[in-house]
Amino acid sequence: MQTKTPTHVAMILDGNGRWAKAHNKPRTQGHVEGAKALKKVIQTLEKTACQVVSIFVFSTENWRRPKAEVDFLMSLPKRFQKDIDELSKDSTGIKVVFSGRKDRLSPANQALIEKYEAQSKTNTGLIVNVCLDYGFKDEMVHATQAIAKAVQNGLAVEAIDESLLESHLYTHPLPPVDLVIRTSGERRLSNFLLWQSAYAELYFTETYWPDFDAAELQKAFDFYASRDRRFGTVES
Ligand code: FPP
Repeated sequence: MQTKTPTHVAMILDGNGRWAKAHNKPRTQGHVEGAKALKKVIQTLEKTACQVVSIFVFSTENWRRPKAEVDFLMSLPKRFQKDIDELSKDSTGIKVVFSGRKDRLSPANQALIEKYEAQSKTNTGLIVNVCLDYGFKDEMVHATQAIAKAVQNGLAVEAIDESLLESHLYTHPLPPVDLVIRTSGERRLSNFLLWQSAYAELYFTETYWPDFDAAELQKAFDFYASRDRRFGTVES
């Protein structure tokens, strides 16, 4: 593994449906295979210097999918309980955090999310940020409302700066995203962590998410290592 490893990787797990179609299977099977691929990628990331991985599991727009598919996607946190428990059971295991709206999730999923966060809270391993009912525009609205309330309660408008705004993001206090990976050939960010990815390197691959494995991850990391990140200045 090369020395220049991204601290925070954000992954848009795209192509489960097309993978299923290509294999003559129902779309839901694509999501099951996607979740299995995710577990393996997390296990690979645990062996690298990467500290945080954000995964786009369900967007604020995904509610518009057919009800049966939404219900299936919403059943994944429970369906993969054993795997999540296994990955987080040791104190050096993964720390699970969730970003997104929680109010539209079922009470059962809200309770499950709290359980996963609580049971892994003090873990020192890879932070897995599960973006569920997440959208950047919603995150901005949420942050703006919180800051407006603070202003109503006496905060000076001049006190609003980048760091204050950042402290109201769902992802606070995670570090900025270094590398965004999107699978399945789509080349867009789809309302995912736009503030956090302001200076991220963008990696796109034709591979459908269920086929994304350690070798594919290595290709993305090699791409990242080859980039000269200037952050608006002239030389790295
Ligand atoms: C995009 O593929 C994928 C999703 C909307 C769901 C991603 C979820 C997982 C990989 C499982 C997460 C697992 C846990 C345990 C929470 P798509 O359906 O948009 O594919 P398509 O563009 O080919 O139709």
